[in-house]
Amino acid sequence: EKGGYPHFMLKEIFEQPRAIADCLRGRLDVENHSIQLGGLVDVLDKLVNAKRLVIAACGTSWHSGLLGEYLFEHLAKLPVEVEYASEFRYREALIDEDDVMLVVSQSGETADTLAALRTAKERGALTLGICNVVGSTIARDTDAGVYTHAGPEIGVASTKAFTTQVSVLAMMAILLGQKRGVLEKEYAARLIEELDRIPGKVEQILENSESIEEMAKLFTYAPNFLYLGRTYNFPVALEGALKLKEISYIHAEGYPAAEMKHGPIALIDEMMPVVVIAATDHTNDKMISNIEEVKARKGRIIAITGEDNEEVMDLAEFNCPIPETEDCLSPLLTSIPLQLLSYYIAVNRGCNVDQPRNLAKSVTVE
Ligand code: F6R
Repeated sequence: EKGGYPHFMLKEIFEQPRAIADCLRGRLDVENHSIQLGGLVDVLDKLVNAKRLVIAACGTSWHSGLLGEYLFEHLAKLPVEVEYASEFRYREALIDEDDVMLVVSQSGETADTLAALRTAKERGALTLGICNVVGSTIARDTDAGVYTHAGPEIGVASTKAFTTQVSVLAMMAILLGQKRGVLEKEYAARLIEELDRIPGKVEQILENSESIEEMAKLFTYAPNFLYLGRTYNFPVALEGALKLKEISYIHAEGYPAAEMKHGPIALIDEMMPVVVIAATDHTNDKMISNIEEVKARKGRIIAITGEDNEEVMDLAEFNCPIPETEDCLSPLLTSIPLQLLSYYIAVNRGCNVDQPRNLAKSVTVE
């Protein structure tokens, strides 16, 4: 059932080209540069006219939600707030019928996410879901939604659920940008064509998994890791750190790269691997100065960067080059080497990758 892979997690990482392609299938119309999301047809008008979108989720799905904020703001010019479902439900959350609540959940059963959804519903908001498990409680309780079609995710660490959630969010944001008349035609066309190429580019990254496996050997016993990214790759930094923590039990933190100066820089020494996700063009110079700051303190740089970005590659001790893509779609590529890195480190440490201690696949209690 693991299809020849030693763990479900590795199988699911390698399934991503197929999972993303399944997620895009029938929705992405490359010829006409349009997007159809059948599950949203009935609510599209309301969504197009919404004043605000609130996204609630937990864990990895919250990281997708954070990317959703960047995507909806950039492509659809729609104000977004992203909430930890557990915080939203216990706060005096201001939400009403002019808002749309979007919950993101692989399992569709996460207790806090379900409660946040129900709170929003009680207050009259339109509720939407992005779920993987068909017929799950959240999928049934939302007014409308989009399935990720990633197929069953068995490994506790979420991998293909994340990249397919982000694919759905990107499609939603492009569609909404088009309907709201705020997305330039040529840019929309480029993004749709590029989304179509993402499965192939993920495949290319996976073909390089051996180099990440080799690199992982050198960091197996690192006590701490820092992950830095900006804009679209800040949520990827958070996700990379979470993946490492949960399956290898190594302490890791993700930060927006500029925040390093406001505290974490104190931690950097020759024992500290720093994973820099430098794959967005307009922040490249800033990332380069962050890399130099880390190097000046003898931190060890692992760079996830565009395969043409020689400036970054020359500075880094280790490189995971990724194919060039549109900035806002880069998380679909940059997250892959981070999944592999945490997987191989966890295996080297003898951890139970598919069933990490203290964790459950679906958190149905608070
Ligand atoms: C991390 C992980 C968890 C889940 C979280 C939400 O790899 O799997 O952080 O993302 O428990 O679960 P869902 O998406 O099922 O609501």
